[in-house]
Amino acid sequence: MARQILIDCDPGTDDAIALFMALGDPRLDVRLVTVAGGNVGLAHTLRNARALVGLSGKAVPVVAGAERPLMGSFQDAAHVHGEDGLGGVRLPEGPAAAAGIAADAIREALRAAGPAGLTLVGIGPATNLALALATEPGLLANVAEIVLMTGAWAEGNVTPAAEFNAWSDPEALAVVLGCGRPVTLVTLELSAQALATPARIEALSRGGSGACREAACGILAATPPSRRLGGAGSPQHDSCAIAWLLAPEAFTRREVFVEVDCGTGPGRGQTVVDRWERLGRKANATLLDTLDAEVFFALLDRSLSRLP
Ligand code: BDR
Ligand code: CA
Repeated sequence: MARQILIDCDPGTDDAIALFMALGDPRLDVRLVTVAGGNVGLAHTLRNARALVGLSGKAVPVVAGAERPLMGSFQDAAHVHGEDGLGGVRLPEGPAAAAGIAADAIREALRAAGPAGLTLVGIGPATNLALALATEPGLLANVAEIVLMTGAWAEGNVTPAAEFNAWSDPEALAVVLGCGRPVTLVTLELSAQALATPARIEALSRGGSGACREAACGILAATPPSRRLGGAGSPQHDSCAIAWLLAPEAFTRREVFVEVDCGTGPGRGQTVVDRWERLGRKANATLLDTLDAEVFFALLDRSLSRLP
């Protein structure tokens, strides 16, 4: 039976790839897509999520959520994702957003999932998830697990200390990390191993046809290579969270204690990950350490083959 999941996202070039990977694999039953402002403002991320789901042909409701973090002000990452969030790749207008607001829709989806449980995949700022979980903690029993693309244990990508999603809403991340359900972390160190190089984009593009494959390859080609990673390609952060659900055997992992810095100094948003049990604290997350990039890109290729 397919695993029921919800994707909370901010598309975003790499979110787009994650959505395609998930929507194209029958082992995942995507019940809901919720959207926050993040890589670009909510007007764009919502439009992009609707367009991507529309292109996939799947009838998945897309619901708008937080425009800004719980505390502090909103800042985008348009310098990476382009002003429109998809690197200038134009997609047909998708179906209208479903009525309501993300936090309510997440709680509703959890209620509907019942004890069988819903897996929450968070690949944007954690605001929507935090609002949902904090306002009705009774529903935590229906959370099967939580997979987050967030944080870094060595170095950030928005400040020297912090990764973008964690830095965008550290207070929300603290709520999700502290909710008591199993959390798995995709950090920058892991996503650096899923590097979309020109050769891999070329291979994906040769792998078949279809509107989704064309859009995915266009988006990958439009994403600037990471300076942090020597310019070899663009790290596919968000789809690592989907790949983990599909092929856990392609990853290594360890149990860790992790805490997010919610202070206002230069460490704001840093995820302090105790990889060597130095603090003697009970582990509160599974940290994904390594992934097999060949398996990762094969999963993406297969999902694109199944989509229109
Ligand atoms: C994360 O931040 C966003 O820019 C990406 O979509 C990804 O979710 C990487 O730091
Ligand atoms: Ca994202």
